[in-house]
Amino acid sequence: MAEFRLPPNSVIRPGKEWPAPEGASRPRKVIVYRYDPESGENPRTDSYTVDLDDCGPMVLDLLLKIKNEIDPTLSLRRSCREGICGSCAMNIDGRNTLACIKPIADIDGDIRIYPLPHQPIVRDLISDLGNFYRQYAAVEPWLQSSTPAPERERRQSVEQRKKLDGLYECILCACCSTSCPSYWWNSDRYLGPAALLNAWRWITDSRDDATEQRLESLDDPFKLYRCHTIMNCTDACPKGLNPAKAIAEIKKRLIER
Ligand code: SF4
Ligand code: SF4
Ligand code: FES
Repeated sequence: MAEFRLPPNSVIRPGKEWPAPEGASRPRKVIVYRYDPESGENPRTDSYTVDLDDCGPMVLDLLLKIKNEIDPTLSLRRSCREGICGSCAMNIDGRNTLACIKPIADIDGDIRIYPLPHQPIVRDLISDLGNFYRQYAAVEPWLQSSTPAPERERRQSVEQRKKLDGLYECILCACCSTSCPSYWWNSDRYLGPAALLNAWRWITDSRDDATEQRLESLDDPFKLYRCHTIMNCTDACPKGLNPAKAIAEIKKRLIER
């Protein structure tokens, strides 16, 4: 019988422990994934006990406190700390979300923080999103118009503009795609929910004239039809968007064609 095991160098080992600071009034254990692919060592989980009475309210505050005051070797991405840039996407308490808008108060017990799942790791909480960005670029996310550029702007009716709501707000954090089982197993060929939501954003834009070519390029058993409507993507989106619905709309348009 076939036996499936993780390669020995991918087994996560328990790492270092940092105790609670002296006099901590509200200590909480934070368990953080650590990995440096260049070190040749296995990934590990380090534990830091932090005084929540001496920390900001969000998980990003917690991570920055650890990095600034306890362990400067911890690596993570962040920029806006407002849920706008998408940099701080990671897996917190078992769910993909943005660390800067995830309240610590929403988590019971130990706080477990891992990088976005099923992506190569650059280091610690930083996933390599190169493939994800290439897939976004593949849907040609820009206006393609066959009419000459107007002097001021390309106008839309209120109804036409409304169709972009729930689509243009995507911040490309990758929480959706990296929570999608179809994407986990086929991310080399399946575009994933984020790229497809953005594809639909341009297909449905009244100012764009490349609709036919866009639909044609998506009509592919892997690029689009690997979506099996599992809905993890919509559940994961920290901006409240609905990539699964956008994918369903693309499929509907392809059937109507
Ligand atoms: S609905 Fe489609 S894209 Fe979303 S998680 Fe499921 S398979 Fe993935
Ligand atoms: S659809 Fe939501 S979860 Fe997916 S990349 Fe955009 S903002 Fe992030
Ligand atoms: S730091 Fe920009 S979304 Fe969290």
